[in-house]
Amino acid sequence: TGEGGGVPAPPTFEQALRIPKVLTGRHITIPMKRAQVRVMPTGPKTWMWTYGGSFPGPTIKRPTGSLTTVTFVNDLPAKAGAMTVHQHGGHQSSADDGQPATYLIGHGARRTYTYPLRERGRPEPAAFRFYHDHRMDRTAENNWRGLQGMFLVTDEREKRLGLPHGAYDVPLHLTDRSFTADNQLTDPFPGGGMHAWMTGPQAPPNDATVGKRILVNGQFAPYLEVKPGQYRLRLLNASTFSAYDLTLSDGRPLTQIGTGTALLPRSVERDDVLLGPAQRADVVVDFSGLEGQDVILSTVPRTDTTEGTGSRSAAIMQFRVRGSARQHARVPDRLRAVPAIDVPQKVDKVWTFGLTKDSHGSFWSIDGRMFDPDRVDYRVRRGTTQLWRLRNTTTMTHYVHLHEEQWHTVSRNGKRPPPWERGLEDTWRLDPGEYVDVAATFTDHPGRFMVHCHMLDHEDHGMMAQFEVVG
Ligand code: C2O
Ligand code: CU
Repeated sequence: TGEGGGVPAPPTFEQALRIPKVLTGRHITIPMKRAQVRVMPTGPKTWMWTYGGSFPGPTIKRPTGSLTTVTFVNDLPAKAGAMTVHQHGGHQSSADDGQPATYLIGHGARRTYTYPLRERGRPEPAAFRFYHDHRMDRTAENNWRGLQGMFLVTDEREKRLGLPHGAYDVPLHLTDRSFTADNQLTDPFPGGGMHAWMTGPQAPPNDATVGKRILVNGQFAPYLEVKPGQYRLRLLNASTFSAYDLTLSDGRPLTQIGTGTALLPRSVERDDVLLGPAQRADVVVDFSGLEGQDVILSTVPRTDTTEGTGSRSAAIMQFRVRGSARQHARVPDRLRAVPAIDVPQKVDKVWTFGLTKDSHGSFWSIDGRMFDPDRVDYRVRRGTTQLWRLRNTTTMTHYVHLHEEQWHTVSRNGKRPPPWERGLEDTWRLDPGEYVDVAATFTDHPGRFMVHCHMLDHEDHGMMAQFEVVG
């Protein structure tokens, strides 16, 4: 009983945007529980699986360098099973990284994750991250049901830049969902994931979970009243599968200042910002001179990329410019230099994102293999700097995520990456046939970490591997 065919009617922006509650403590506890969320402007609320009773969950906001613990308590219905939480973009021990098949949080149990927010003893760069469920075979379903929240790492150096702050700094969690006539989530998840499919006569797993309605901070078509000043918008695409190519209705540029992993070395003006699953963009928008007007944030279809980006045409939210701004914000041209590393001369490891066929049929794979939690796919010595190539051999775009380190994008298809890819990154778009070379130094933590496509259906489908840091 999904939403009927066709595209929902253009929204009328009836609900004021919610800003998720912010948690700033050193020791945080978040219960995972079933709760009702006001998603649609009218009619019944929506039952979801939540962090802390809201969707998205509370935003964790912590100063860099200060050790933080977050205890997640699994108060979800028993049938939800065991959970595991990953702080996306974070640099933490293997046991604290949200392993897909180990260190799970069973029904009624709790687990405390330690986030040092340091690298080699030094504070990490300020960042816009998120936390989400990472359970093997069930990540798409658990995230669809609501297990997502934002995570901000702040620092003093960033504060001195004079960027818009306080009420002028707005996190926007974008995602999509489909609903039944009584505002409940549809259930696009027929089976127990790829591993169940391999071993039994199951329906094929979900493979392209796209919601008909785009939500912002868990609400369909909200509006935000803004002053005619500069706003820092932290854009996160938390969708299962969809990409959005974001633009503003009056052609106003978005000034990108960061990737979500860190600030860019220089700000860059963009007419549109394409974000795939798990990608973030830290942008500044200037609403000056627009008193009394409304500006719409939309996604536009892409014409220059091929199959699989999923970018569609839809209005997402409205900014109502009202009142007057008393503000002294600025966007410096130079933001934060990226720390230099010695990039190796030759590629240490090629990760190939493919579609592999075997006797069961075809499945999304890395290096021709389906994810196996008991297999280590690559070993890397702690303290070394590695150059990895991420290569897409399929006819579909993928969004590839590397855990644990913050990466330099060395080149895209052998050429210098575009200005918005010259900072640190953790998730890259890979169009069909493309390859991206990335480098990082493996510093603190030994143990196993993930490599995967962040289109969650593909991840569950087996397009995931693991590397182990040794020594
Ligand atoms: Cu955002 Cu391995 O995940
Ligand atoms: Cu993919």
